[in-house]
Amino acid sequence: MRLAGRDLVAIEDLDRPVIEELLDSARSLIPAAEGTAAPRTLEGKLVAMAFLEPSTRTRLSFEAAVQRLGGRCVTIADPAATSIRKGETLSDTIRMISSYSDALVLRHPNSGAARLAADLSDRPVINAGDGSHQHPTQTLTDLAAIREAHGTLSGLRIVVLGDLKYGRAVHSLIWALALFGNEIVLTSPPSLRLPESARHRLRALGARVQEEPELSRALAGADILYVTRIQRERFPDETEYRKVAGSYRIDRTTLDAVGPGLRVLHPLPRLGEIAPEVDRTPHALYFRQAFLGVPVRMALLQAILGEGG
Ligand code: CP
Repeated sequence: MRLAGRDLVAIEDLDRPVIEELLDSARSLIPAAEGTAAPRTLEGKLVAMAFLEPSTRTRLSFEAAVQRLGGRCVTIADPAATSIRKGETLSDTIRMISSYSDALVLRHPNSGAARLAADLSDRPVINAGDGSHQHPTQTLTDLAAIREAHGTLSGLRIVVLGDLKYGRAVHSLIWALALFGNEIVLTSPPSLRLPESARHRLRALGARVQEEPELSRALAGADILYVTRIQRERFPDETEYRKVAGSYRIDRTTLDAVGPGLRVLHPLPRLGEIAPEVDRTPHALYFRQAFLGVPVRMALLQAILGEGG
């Protein structure tokens, strides 16, 4: 694969064949992610996890991925316990961490932080979510779940529901969905519509995109419903958040009218936007999706650092 030594800052850094290769590799690594096989492709490698914003899935799945492949991690899980608290700059922090490790996985609250880190670091940088910009490894995970459920990544009708303005997972995902030739249906509260910059990127790809504010109409003939949380932490004004909080919720009644093949994805964490009763339906795919984050990140790390590179 052509990823050896490279950064992953945005999903556009990967072309279609590379994404397909990564997903094939991830599928073959599922036994290792489950602990029933033990490849050692990252033996001797040290990966730094700099999580300067909260995370459960991304950090732990990256750490699990490294360790399942025989590598080791050094981790910042709480920026308050680092010298950032004393005023150290991101630039100095990145330069130093990258000199301690073979690759750096960075989560940061500011859009553009991963690009800055990649420009500063001598070692590969993987964006684990930067502000409302992008979350490319979440997208690889989402694609793995879609392909596992439907056996294809193309020609599907995919409804993306929720916070399309601030949701970084959405900003990466829609690009990949368009790249693979899917029909994208956007459904959001009016104040959380997809930003013009993202629409421009989709137009440049010739993507089939429509907006449908009415969820029941959006879901007609849909293969995937991708639900997202309203990103409260990104709102400059709490009053604006309160105006949209709780404005959509998927429950059994929503799903009564959909086809049996529809699968519900969510990058998680969820708040109230998917009722727990949905977990017990065959539509729920989000916990399997979260698991697939481990083999997907194994495949990526192996491609950048290990034998697969
Ligand atoms: N999906 C996701 O990024 O989850 P975390 O914030 O828990 O890492």
